[in-house]
Order: sequence, then C-alpha cells, then structure tokens
Amino acid sequence: MSRVPIRYGARPCSLVVCRGCCCGDARKNPGTDHAGQLARLREAAAASGGRLAVRTSDCLGPCAQGNIVVVQPSTEGRRRGGRAAWIGFTLDDDSLDAILAWTEAGGPGIAPPPAALTLQMVDPPKN
Ligand code: FES
Repeated sequence: MSRVPIRYGARPCSLVVCRGCCCGDARKNPGTDHAGQLARLREAAAASGGRLAVRTSDCLGPCAQGNIVVVQPSTEGRRRGGRAAWIGFTLDDDSLDAILAWTEAGGPGIAPPPAALTLQMVDPPKN
C-alpha cells in the first residue's frame, strides 16, 4: 500500500474517543471492553510512526449513539476535502477494525471509508 508522506508540521489523522457520561460507561453499554478498546486504539497510534493520533474527550453530544469516535482527517486529507466523520455505536471489535483500517489507508480525504463503517456514521450535534 502506498502511504501519503508526512510533512513537517502536518497533523496526522486523529481519533477523538468520547469518554464522557455515557461513552465508555459499562453501565450504559455492558458487554463492551471499553478500557480494552481505548488501549487498542492507543497501541495502534503508538505503532503508527506518527500517522495516527488518539485522544479522549468529554461528552461530544450524541450519547444515545455511543460509543462515539470522531475520525479527523490529516492535514493532507483535509486539503483534499476530507472532513471529520462521526462514528457511532463503536461497541465491538469489528467497529475498531474498520476505523483502524480506514486510518491505516489514510483516513478522510485520502481513502474511502470501509462500507460497514458508513452505516455507523452519525451526524455531529448542531451548535
Ligand atoms: S458521552 Fe459520548 S456522546 Fe455523550
């Protein structure tokens, strides 16, 4: 697979993992290893050589569709027209597989999202 080179000062594709009042809460979504999910995403970022960043956030808004992960484009992806994609219902390994496959391919603006992931895309809250 060809990779988009990283330029100095350019931001990588990044994941904002909601860990607010509902996302990541075992009482709201039992049966999901929330800590394990976050650890897996952080491990992927650590192994990405700077091509992926992961951070957590307080409540992003659409709690009923949690767990929410926002996939933000890299600088190059944004330059090519990529926009943040809000992924809902990230409660299983398949969701993480799809998110990581997309970011590995370059993320928004660089590569199309996996088809299964498009079914989990939710609207960001209106300000
Ligand atoms: S806690 Fe994640 S959207 Fe509210």
